[in-house]
Amino acid sequence: MNKEIIARATAYVKEKFENEYSGHDWFHTLRVFRTATRIAEAEGADVVTVQLAALLHDVDDRKLSPETYAEQKNARSFLAENGVEESVICEICRIISEVSFVGSDSVVPSTLEGKCVQDADRLDAIGAIGIARAFAYGGNHNRLMYHPDIAPKLNMSREEYIKSNSTTVNHFYEKLFKLTDMMNTDTAKQIAKERDAYMKDFIAEFLNEWEGRK
Ligand code: ADP
Ligand code: NI
Repeated sequence: MNKEIIARATAYVKEKFENEYSGHDWFHTLRVFRTATRIAEAEGADVVTVQLAALLHDVDDRKLSPETYAEQKNARSFLAENGVEESVICEICRIISEVSFVGSDSVVPSTLEGKCVQDADRLDAIGAIGIARAFAYGGNHNRLMYHPDIAPKLNMSREEYIKSNSTTVNHFYEKLFKLTDMMNTDTAKQIAKERDAYMKDFIAEFLNEWEGRK
């Protein structure tokens, strides 16, 4: 049953994100699935719960699917249609609802499984992949890469963060550089450190080139 439901969830998400190019595509979910599995195994979490939540974590995303976001309709129907019992559906939906970064209103997940999924999702927002996703997102939303006169806002609330349409370089200060300290598990903290250093080198180099210091 476990293997089968993971295979079905994989097929479901792959099809759902077929035409998604904003940095939230199927391959993002696949990377989160793999990283979450790795963290869950190292941390002794329930692997199947983590895998299912990782696969379904973006199917009711606020930006991608605003009409199903509040009630997590897609995840719920998928799980119910595949015979998952109500208590497990609730557990998975709770993990998903606690995953997102929303400025200073982000939450620490209430279970170890939730921590693994949140860490995996955040690891995919940093490092080389994180840099690429940020600029892909910026291009997709018609944002400037950088503007020397627009300063980052470091402590945004949920509302401010959601409304913000700042530059992509500011996004590094407003979110990406904060994520390493926000990792829940030791396994993720270790992976994050290296990715964070790589990203900081990139931004330093970007600003050096911009200012003609090189
Ligand atoms: P999450 O997966 O935590 O819900 P988001 O939906 O906010 O993250 O973002 C998806 C991807 O787009 C992430 O890699 C994120 O860093 C990037 N992104 C989100 N907002 C911006 C922004 N304002 N500028 C650049 N990249 C962004
Ligand atoms: Ni995600």
